[in-house]
Amino acid sequence: MIVPVALVAAAAAAVANAQAACKPDLLVDDFAAARTVTLPEGGGARPANLLNGDYGAQGATFAVNPAGKEVVITAGTADVGQPEPQANPGTAPTFNYWFGKFDIGACFDLTGYTAIAFDLVAPAGSNMNFTLTQRSADCKTRLVDSVYKPLSSYLKTDGSKKAVSLPIADYAKNLKGGAFDFKHLKDWTIVNMTPSGAVFRLSNLRLVGNCAGNQTATTTTTAASKSTATASASATVPSVIATQKPATGSAQSAGASIGAALVAVLAAMSF
Ligand SMILES: *[C@@H]1O[C@H](CO)[C@@H](O)[C@H](O)[C@H]1NC(C)=O
Ligand SMILES: *[C@@H]1O[C@H](CO)[C@@H](O)[C@H](O)[C@H]1NC(C)=O
Repeated sequence: MIVPVALVAAAAAAVANAQAACKPDLLVDDFAAARTVTLPEGGGARPANLLNGDYGAQGATFAVNPAGKEVVITAGTADVGQPEPQANPGTAPTFNYWFGKFDIGACFDLTGYTAIAFDLVAPAGSNMNFTLTQRSADCKTRLVDSVYKPLSSYLKTDGSKKAVSLPIADYAKNLKGGAFDFKHLKDWTIVNMTPSGAVFRLSNLRLVGNCAGNQTATTTTTAASKSTATASASATVPSVIATQKPATGSAQSAGASIGAALVAVLAAMSF
């Protein structure tokens, strides 16, 4: 009797390990609500997703459109330089960017995920670069970005809605040729959307996991985030406009306050 029980226990443990070892798909944002989060370091309410990762931009404006279940990003014209040049050596000057994080601490473990997937409406001829930004192992310092990959290497933009899947493996090297440390991701960033004035509609943002089959994980933060967003949107708008400043340690935030304020206003209007 002991042997079969032990075998069953061993088999159960193996199954549990296998399940623990794989990552199911993770919905980052359905854009069904204009959510906000207040980061531990302060800085007021910021637009955020189901994982409580915040969004930000410079040289571009954006607003979540719950009716269309999308975030609408408009490419701006300003040359914002290279806010942290040590993080992106050898890249072209940055004139706009938009980023999304996958956790509140900006130190997300991306290991086990195989792709960043979303739907995108992009005008014909438009383009943009994608990169992953790097945290140090202690989650405190920004290190060198992953290589940049243009949207045009994945698909041809034509104004229609297209499913985009960015294989994580495409970003395995950093800009200096070293290995990207996927265990400590700062954020996912879109750089240099062109042409200026182009409007992009991004929806159904998710991380594709490595479990067999397609298991979509449900997040437990959805209800709380929604009610927080609803409760705080109108109340915090004035203070956001007055006091919003780049989050401490945020890589790319120098001019984000204006964008964030715009977003907050738009978010409030949408309620
Ligand atoms: C993407 O970034 C690289 C490095 O900065 C640059 O050489 C390339 O022109 C960029 N492509 C687009 C479409 O912005
Ligand atoms: C998983 O399946 C659902 C429903 O068919 C689909 O909407 C979703 O895009 C799939 N997930 C991925 C990551 O492809």
